[in-house]
Amino acid sequence: MRKTVLGVLVSGRGSNLQAIIDAISADRLDAKIGLVISDNPEAHALQRIAGWDIPAVVIDRKKCSSRQEFEERLVAEFTLHHVDLIVLAGFMRILSSYFISRFPGRVMNIHPALLPAFPGLDAQKQALDYGAKVAGCTVHFVDEGMDSGPIILQEAVPVLDNDTVETLSERILHVEHLLYPRAISLYCQQRLAVEGRRVKILAEKSKEGAKVQ
Ligand code: GRF
Repeated sequence: MRKTVLGVLVSGRGSNLQAIIDAISADRLDAKIGLVISDNPEAHALQRIAGWDIPAVVIDRKKCSSRQEFEERLVAEFTLHHVDLIVLAGFMRILSSYFISRFPGRVMNIHPALLPAFPGLDAQKQALDYGAKVAGCTVHFVDEGMDSGPIILQEAVPVLDNDTVETLSERILHVEHLLYPRAISLYCQQRLAVEGRRVKILAEKSKEGAKVQ
């Protein structure tokens, strides 16, 4: 069977991209990265794929005359590379309905908070400032809003009394690196059923077609 082709959008450090590459290498994720696009020519994520047979393109938003032009170029590249699922991995831009409607139900994001709490920037700081005792991360489908699409997977981590933004972010990031490949794998196995806002996780099918509980 043809592997699901991933298109990964990055802007910076790229540790989630690394986790996806590692999961594919370890056979925990049966997918292929068809293209990485960075909107930032300096993104460390681009260095992570050096040495791997992964095509990468920089589309610098500042060099595009408008968001529309930027997104048209994203769409053209992903289409050219036959991408099935678009994975936002530290991509620091909001995508418009123009882009989302080109890939309905096929764009995922990871956010370092238990949504719907603390959407947007600096989610870990928001959780600390609010005094939350539990933080975590969320993988969700992307819609036109800010971190508002249907939730696929979430996992909690404790907030400790002596936490700083750095220590809490580190604890959450460790979980992100496990959760994102798992969510992508569920998509690749066609085990995600979206019903309105709810994303149901279907039972795994054995090779003989019987359901595994
Ligand atoms: C992660 O915390 C992710 O949840 C958020 O942006 C950060 C990206 O980190 N959306 P990295 O670039 O994957 O290391």
